[in-house]
Parts: sequence; structure tokens; C-alpha cells
Amino acid sequence: MSARSITKDIYAVGILNPAMRIFDVVMKTEYGTSYNSYIVKGAEKTALVETCHLTFFDQYLDNIRQVCDPAQIDYIILNHCEPDHSGVLGRLTSLCPAAKILVSQAGSLYLKNITNNPSLPITVAKDGDKLDLGGKTLQFISAPFLHWPDSMFTWCPEEKILFSCDVLGAHYCEPYTFDTNMAYPAKYEEAFKGYYDAIFGPFPSYVQNGLAKIKALDVQVVCNSHGPVLTRGCRLEWAMDRYEEWSRPQKNEVPLIPLFYCSAYGNTGKIADMLRAGILEEIPHADCQIYDINAHDMAFLQGLLNRSDAFGIGSPTINADAVAPVWNLLSHVDAINNRKRPVLVFGSYGWSGEAVPNLIARLKGLKSDVFEEGFRTIFVPSEEELQKAKEFGKQFARSLAK
Ligand code: FEO
Repeated sequence: MSARSITKDIYAVGILNPAMRIFDVVMKTEYGTSYNSYIVKGAEKTALVETCHLTFFDQYLDNIRQVCDPAQIDYIILNHCEPDHSGVLGRLTSLCPAAKILVSQAGSLYLKNITNNPSLPITVAKDGDKLDLGGKTLQFISAPFLHWPDSMFTWCPEEKILFSCDVLGAHYCEPYTFDTNMAYPAKYEEAFKGYYDAIFGPFPSYVQNGLAKIKALDVQVVCNSHGPVLTRGCRLEWAMDRYEEWSRPQKNEVPLIPLFYCSAYGNTGKIADMLRAGILEEIPHADCQIYDINAHDMAFLQGLLNRSDAFGIGSPTINADAVAPVWNLLSHVDAINNRKRPVLVFGSYGWSGEAVPNLIARLKGLKSDVFEEGFRTIFVPSEEELQKAKEFGKQFARSLAK
């Protein structure tokens, strides 16, 4: 898509990537994405806000050239240095040698290692700093962890436009710039929620802080970094309300203690049944369900795990380790909000039984509160071992009350 006007002096020069299906290796993007980038023209200076993924450099450069000669760019503002925002920077700077690069303090450190260019003309933009372009001001607002520690917003008060970085974005691609023309709103809403969960789910308190900063401004348009530009009276209020709702501190109505497992011959499954019986004997009102990992959608299990009060995870030992679906689920653990979460590990094994200790090692690495040394049986658990599993479940449940 070519360059488009946002206002008389602000242009969208970003790129559509409708074919993308996975972002950051783990995030499914069924509806593609866009790498949004903007040019702000003042009477005296020109700024480029955000850049683009390196893959699309030639197309991106064409878009810039439809608005200005790259050599006329005075400032490149990176609200965030992840390579979907900064990827073309190395090639672009050779075409705009006079441009100063403005990033947060954290961004300045990241950028050196992302570009491996120690002589980049970086200026650190501190919270509250302003840039005068001549009739257009750009003000920098710190927004850490939205999405990385380096993130910031850029606010143009004359236009009432906020360049919000990843915030209020979505991996969603249509050949339109604004939210007013969306052809598939239900799919957009799905993508918006999936994006929030993956990118901001781990940082609810930072989302609340960021929302407060946005609400303090008279924002009419949000020029985000992915998906449709949001406008007041169309999607902006809806999007803000969803962030408010999703980031609010939440508490489960009853203790949520899911038990996740895989079982080769049903033996690890039998242990799960008895652990559950023990947990429910101690906490009868708990929501303690058993989930065969292979029988459920991973996104569903991931959501359940990350909002649980405690959880169990079980695996047989195959090839001296836990099995791949169990590792897959653990790879989705929100490492920030799972710190100190109580976890019970279990499994049946035949020869050497590495699954349980390997899972425990990983969970301790995540700073989870692992219960004792887990529960293991060799091959088929006997009736006596099943009763021990039940007692182990009771002890785990008792430990949650402490
Ligand atoms: Fe759009 Fe965090 O990158």
C-alpha cells in the first residue's frame, strides 16, 4: 500500500503484511499484520515515527519517497526498538545521514546491539521532552513494558494524535488505514484480544499506567504500530474500554487449580485423578479439573494456566525427558505473573524417570513455588501408590492455605 494522509501534515508510510501467520515465533497471526510508520511534517523539520521490518525495505522506501526525500528527514523516532519497528534502520540511515535518532534510555542500549553500529546518532528522549518541528510539537511519554522496557508514546498536541507504539494495536491487516472502513470487525476484535493477551497480558499494571497517561490527553486519533489507526467516535473508545477491562486486577471466585497432563498408557492420567481427589477432599469448593494436553487447544490451556491460583503438570518419561506437548504448554507460562505460583509436578515412568525432575528444574527457573520433589511412580501405579497420590494432593492443597 502506498503513502496515505492522516492529516494535512501527517502521513502513514507503513507496510501491510497480510501473509504473516506467526509473529515472534510463538504468536499466531491469522489475519496478518501491518508495520505502521508515520511522517510528521513541521514548518521547519520533518520526523519519521517508527520504521519497518527489514523484509519490506524497498516498498517502505517507496512510501517515504512519496512524501519526502529521505535526506530531508531530520528525526527518526523509535517508540520501541523491537525489529518490527527498527529493522530497516541500518539501511535507512545511510539515506538520511543528517537524521537524529530519538529513543528512550533503554532503547538507546538495545539499539546499539540491534544495529551493531556504535556510531548511530542517538539522542535519548526522556519522559516529557519535547521536539519542535515548527508548528508541530512532538512530546515523549515514557510507557515502559508496553511492550518492552524501552517503550514510549509520542504525542502531537496540535493534531491531538498519539503515536502509541504497540499499545492499542492488533495483528490485523486490511487494505485500509483507518478503523472506519473495517470490512471484518469481528475478526478484528478477535485479533485485538489475541494481541492484547500475547503482548500485554503479562503487564496489567503497566497497561493501567499507560491508559492513565493516554486518558490525561485529549487524544482524537491513535496512530499505533500495528493494525488500523483508531479514531474517536469509531473504535478508539471501544479499544480503551477493552484495555481497561482486561488489565483490571482479577481474582478467581473459587480457587482455580487445573491439572494438566499427558499420558502414554494412562498411568500418569491415573495419578492425576488421585491428586485431584486429594485436592478436592481438602478444598471441596476448588475448581480442580483435569486436562489432557493433547485433547485441548493450547491457547485455552495457556489462558487457564496463567490465571490459575495453582496448577499441576504431569508427564511420562520418554527419551529421558518430559514429552513435547508438556514442554509446549510450559513455554506459554507467563514468566512474570507466575512467580511464586504453587505447582505440583507428577508422572509415571518406566526406566529412569527424568520427566518430573526436568519439569521441576524448569519451573524453579521460572521462580514457581514447586511442591516438594513431585510425585512419581514406576510403570502402573499400585493401589497403595494411588492412595499416596491422593494424600500428596491433599498435602499440596493444605500447603496452599499457608
Ligand atoms: Fe511491534 Fe513489540 O513490537
